[in-house]
Amino acid sequence: MSSLLGAPVADRPAFDAAVTGLFDMTPQGVRRRGRHVLTLIQYMSSLIERKREVPGQDLLSALVQVEQSGEISRTELINLGLALLMAGYETTAHQLSLAILELLTGDTADGKSVEALVEELLRKTPSTPVSFPRVATEDLVLGGTTVCQGEAVIVSLLHCNHDAEVFCTSGVRTNARRPTHLTFGHGAHRCVGAPLACR
Ligand code: HEM
Repeated sequence: MSSLLGAPVADRPAFDAAVTGLFDMTPQGVRRRGRHVLTLIQYMSSLIERKREVPGQDLLSALVQVEQSGEISRTELINLGLALLMAGYETTAHQLSLAILELLTGDTADGKSVEALVEELLRKTPSTPVSFPRVATEDLVLGGTTVCQGEAVIVSLLHCNHDAEVFCTSGVRTNARRPTHLTFGHGAHRCVGAPLACR
């Protein structure tokens, strides 16, 4: 992700520390979160300035041009840059750890092609177990529960991936017309990095 965005290799340790700190869920870590957010915003602002002065063949330089054309604001550019760097970092790192753990302890690998194995590991061990919240724009009934307009719903992707109506216990799809798994979410906000993450 750093290479794609054009972040220098030398910046990685500082960035790594700030992102790891941001996702530290201990009470101490949570108290320090504001500091890490500030560090990341300052980091992205300075990287944007560097790309403005010396553009490269990278995604952030291209986005800086979009900002200069007036299509997006500086705040949007900072948010986009950080979203891409962070969304593709923790998720992928944890997905690899979870997949390796499953390979070492489970029987998922038995007799599968690499493509089928990757899909099955993604299904069984999603590193992001829940979706972003969706807010109902009108009253609706979902699985027998009424969701009122304005209420938020978070979908458990982990549970969807184990839906007995779609998968039998061995993970083989019983309904081939359904998607293989929801590890990258669904709909308009499905993970934009999915083709990159499981290329
Ligand atoms: C195995 C690795 C990854 C997993 C498991 C993962 C998972 C997810 C999930 C579950 C969502 C929310 C989808 C929803 O609510 O419907 C999401 C959104 C997103 N992901 Fe990923 N992701 C991964 C890698 C990446 C990479 C490499 C990038 C960067 C290119 C990325 C960028 C994003 C962005 C920008 C969004 C927000 C999309 C939007 O709101 O429209 N992700 N991801």
